[in-house]
Parts: sequence; C-alpha cells; structure tokens
Amino acid sequence: MNVMNTMSELPDVGSLEQGLSEIRQAVENSLIAMLAAPVTAPPNLLNAMRHALLAPSKRIRPLMLYLVAEPTGPLVDAALRVGSAVEMVHTASLILDDLPCMDDAQMRRRRPTTHVAFGQSTAILSSIALLTRAFGIISELDGVSGETRTRLSAILSNAVGWDGLVAGQELDTNGQSELLDSPGIENLIWLKTGILFVASAEMGAVLRQANDHQVQAVRRYAKHFGLAFQTLDDLLDGTASAQDAGKDVNKDEGKTTLVSLFGASKARQTCQQHLAIADAALLETGAMIEPLRTLASRLFTKARTP
Ligand code: IPE
Ligand code: IPE
Ligand code: MG
Ligand code: MG
Ligand code: MG
Repeated sequence: MNVMNTMSELPDVGSLEQGLSEIRQAVENSLIAMLAAPVTAPPNLLNAMRHALLAPSKRIRPLMLYLVAEPTGPLVDAALRVGSAVEMVHTASLILDDLPCMDDAQMRRRRPTTHVAFGQSTAILSSIALLTRAFGIISELDGVSGETRTRLSAILSNAVGWDGLVAGQELDTNGQSELLDSPGIENLIWLKTGILFVASAEMGAVLRQANDHQVQAVRRYAKHFGLAFQTLDDLLDGTASAQDAGKDVNKDEGKTTLVSLFGASKARQTCQQHLAIADAALLETGAMIEPLRTLASRLFTKARTP
C-alpha cells in the first residue's frame, strides 16, 4: 500500500463529511502500511497486532489530530504518521483493558478480543509491541525538526504513563473504593480517556506550529471533548446493544460512574456541558472549526436522546 499516493489525493479539511471519510481512509491506509511486510515480528504476534489495530474503529484520535494540524505538503505524511502512533497507543490500551484481569471482555471492534483470539500472553506482548512502536514512529518522522519530534514524544509519553492513562486504568481497576464523588470520577475519566485526546489534539497543534494561547485552547477543547466522550461511553454501556457498540456492553455493573452515581439524565447533562465548553474553546484554537464540529456531531447524537 503506497501511503504517499493516497495522501496526495487528500481533500482540504474544509470539505466536511467527505473530507472526514477520506482522511479516515488515509489513516486506515497508513496503519495498514505500518504493519505490512517487511515487519519482522513472529507471524503470530504480527497477526495479533493486525487483529487489534486494523479492526473497524472510529479512529477519532488521529482524525482530531489531523483536523487540528490542518497539514499541507510533507506535513500531511507527518500528521498521518503521528495519528497512527496515537492509534497504536490507544489500541494497546484497549487490548489490556479487555483482559480477564481488567474488564474481562469478549468482543472488541466487532471481533473477538485479542486475548480470546490469540491467548493472553500474545495479547499482552502485542500491546507492548504497539506501544513501543508508536514512539519509534515519532522518532523516525520525516519533514519535522528534531525539536518537534522530541516535543511530540514528550506529549505522548506524559499522556500515557504512570500519571496518565496507566494511572487512570489502575484507579478504574483497583481504586474503585476511592471513587465517591463527581470530582473523583471526573479525574478518573480525565486520566483514562481525556488525557489521550488532549495529547492527540496538542500534537496536531504542535505540527501546525500554533502559538501558546492556541495550544491552551486546543487542550481545553480536547479535554472537554474527551470527558464528554467517556461519559457517553458510560451511558451507552447500559443502553446500547453489543451489536451496535461492536464490543461487550453492561461491563460497568459494579463500577462507579457518573451514570451509576447520579443517573443517566444527569450524566447526559454533564456530557452536554462538556461539549458546550469544548465548542467554545474551539473558537480560540485558530483551527478550522466546522470539520471538528462535524466530527463531534457525528459522535454525540446518541447522547442527546433520552
Ligand atoms: C474506546 O475508545 C475506549 C474509550 C475511551 C471509551 P473508542 O470508542 O474510540 O474505540 P474505537 O477506537 O472506535 O474502537
Ligand atoms: C477504557 O474505558 C478506557 C481505556 C481503554 C483507556 P472503558 O473500559 O469504558 O472502555 P470500553 O467500554 O471497554 O471501550
Ligand atoms: Mg475499562
Ligand atoms: Mg472496558
Ligand atoms: Mg466503556
């Protein structure tokens, strides 16, 4: 698969729905290319990585990164590669999230979870392989300065590590007894989900060479988008079918979420409040707002209906 050919045909991000689909396809092509021959991993490990990474997914984080970056020329390639790196990190987190010792899920992205299909040892190793490769991709980026590559690595590493996504997953798995109130739950959602959205959007802003004020607005936008996103996910866990979600549902029984603590109506309201803050922040990002608004409206329609 020649990623460069696909990329040169990419539309302007302003052409909304069509633009989103075509950027998403370019992300897909980039991911396929990254796990294509001559990857020299053992075939079983490579198949597990492909099983998890190349399954049907919304690809929201790389889409958001791309739309914030608004790349042209060689930066198109860089934005797709950094987006693919984020998608690898996200997928690595999903593989672990589904393990029997975590959420014990059977289905993910319309496929059997990686440990169900390949066994726990290969699932864990494929997660580590995706996670580490993500940082390799950033360090090998063409068309950006060494300083930019370092900045991108630091953003991603800070988002994922022991005071980021990993901390969120630890609290979610082993710290439920400490989740007693709304700030506690918001902190959990921020760590396990919001922080990677912020890293994605911020990396897009860095590629666009946004100024400090714009970077702060991008972070605010993505934080509240991410908080709304996980709140919607928690709502859908109790209402969507596994068929619609493409993954196990009713997995949050026994967990403290905004839904279990305050009810679905309050959670829906909180979701809308986060979306409103995200939308207001968008105006200060310096980015084209309509494609990002289209992305949000595609995702959040279900949160608006009772
Ligand atoms: C699932 O993420 C985990 C959450 C943060 C809720 P997504 O809903 O983005 O899943 P995919 O990537 O589309 O499969
Ligand atoms: C998981 O949240 C977030 C991460 C994987 C970091 P959930 O456990 O609610 O995600 P789903 O519902 O399994 O996708
Ligand atoms: Mg979980
Ligand atoms: Mg889960
Ligand atoms: Mg969930």
